[in-house]
Amino acid sequence: MMIINTIAELRKHIASQRRNNKKIGFVPTMGYLHEGHLSLVGISRQHSDYQVMSIFVNKMQFNDPKDYTTYPRDYERDFALAKGAGVDLVFLPDDSEMYQNRLTYVDIEMMTDHLCGATRPGHFRGVLTVVAKLFNIVQPDYAVFGQKDIQQAIIIQKMVKDLDFPVTIIVAPIIREPDGLAMSSRNVHLKGQDRSNAVSIYKSLQKAEELIQQGVVQSYALIPAITDVITAGKPKKIDYVSVVDYETLQPIESLKEKSVIAVAAFFGPTRLIDNMIVEKKGDAYTCVY
Ligand code: PAJ
Repeated sequence: MMIINTIAELRKHIASQRRNNKKIGFVPTMGYLHEGHLSLVGISRQHSDYQVMSIFVNKMQFNDPKDYTTYPRDYERDFALAKGAGVDLVFLPDDSEMYQNRLTYVDIEMMTDHLCGATRPGHFRGVLTVVAKLFNIVQPDYAVFGQKDIQQAIIIQKMVKDLDFPVTIIVAPIIREPDGLAMSSRNVHLKGQDRSNAVSIYKSLQKAEELIQQGVVQSYALIPAITDVITAGKPKKIDYVSVVDYETLQPIESLKEKSVIAVAAFFGPTRLIDNMIVEKKGDAYTCVY
């Protein structure tokens, strides 16, 4: 497995893979890898021949400087895990390599100013800008993103469509701990009771599925029921519980053909997110989470 730090060297190396007709798969990450990240590599391998992973803790998407400095990092461990998962090349640029200047940005305001964007102003502008840069640097055929960060996955799909990036985006399933908590690099910050209480987020989605299967499709009925289950887990604060359209991310009054139920809550100092994609097929609803 190669580790490359500069854009110039990366471009040279990927160009030679392309000359050999290799399809390039790409998994962007901020490191501190867990099974969720590694599952994306597995999915990428099903579609492409040469696996590139970026590890870059992108300062531009952190609206809280403390969150940036305390973001967990362990590159040696990451290299071993990436290699084991079948990554061929890790791109590990530093801040100065990625941000010679910060004048240009990509944003989709009507999709980024609510849900996670409401309490994290500038976050998704940072995500879209760095992903656009990484797509131009790596020029992948396929790029894999986790459903775990559904707003991120949907706005990236929209950016790719609107700006004609020649890449196919794949959205991969959420990988969970045995008790149902969605895996996240930030879970290391969850201590004691907060860790066990955090499973109430997953339980709230199970409750939503149960209600949907009973025919409850109105947001005014689903949102309080989900909120009650999370509240029983004693979160420090619930950030949001929302039912939105999958394509536009706008709030909806009742479930449509394809909808997202998204939640965010604090357990102790740690902000956790989770979600469920609900698809209507005929009269039946399928819930994926
Ligand atoms: P990061 O949080 O490191 O996540 C990298 C990728 O792993 C994202 O696509 C995320 O959705 C996915 N992922 C995280 N936890 C997962 C889980 N439990 N199951 C499945 N996939 C999971 O997301 C980012 O980094 C950054 O915003 C980035 C896109 C790299 C831009 O900086």
